[in-house]
Amino acid sequence: MVALCESEILRLATLKNLIEVLKLNNQYGCPEVDGPDAMKRVQSCEAAVFLVCEINGKAVGLIRGVYDGSRALIHQLSVHPEYQERDIGRALVKEIAKEFRRRGAPSVSATVTERSLGFWKRVGFERVPVFLTLAYPIEKVLETPTTKV
Ligand SMILES: CC(C)(COP(=O)(O)OP(=O)(O)OC[C@H]1O[C@@H](n2cnc3c(N)ncnc32)[C@H](O)[C@@H]1OP(=O)(O)O)[C@@H](O)C(=O)NCCC(=O)NCCS
Repeated sequence: MVALCESEILRLATLKNLIEVLKLNNQYGCPEVDGPDAMKRVQSCEAAVFLVCEINGKAVGLIRGVYDGSRALIHQLSVHPEYQERDIGRALVKEIAKEFRRRGAPSVSATVTERSLGFWKRVGFERVPVFLTLAYPIEKVLETPTTKV
């Protein structure tokens, strides 16, 4: 059975399961960004939507994103490898889109990898000529010299 829950409180077991899912999918590069404490912060952020898919009480997938009053963006989607190709990814995307629309979002974008692009196309997204850039650690931006102002 698939249960999509915007868990009021992420239980420790749920957090552990979700970290395992991210690790199995090579999406756990940085604990500061994706670890248990970060997940708790996302949960208490009003602009964020964080949904978990549970099957028989076990967390097997997650999706999270943000709607800031203008743009809705899905930052992360992950389904346990043993549970993939069962429409769980599609269900998670539909649920978060439903919630974004309820909040007023007219569109939704997603952070996507090459290998998952086919999935995103299946669930209604199209590639646009925009890509993600990253500054990590954030100090790299702060340390850039300002020379002309
Ligand atoms: C990508 C991912 C979330 C898809 O989840 P899933 O639960 O397996 O997908 P679904 O079963 O809901 O698939 C929906 C459709 O997309 C297709 N699909 C799934 N993964 C696909 C992929 N990597 N490439 C092309 N098509 C894919 C399915 O065959 C299905 O097709 P259908 O419309 O003909 O039925 C999952 O494979 C995953 O977690 N991958 C690793 C992490 C990742 O890449 N995350 C996304 C980047 S942010």
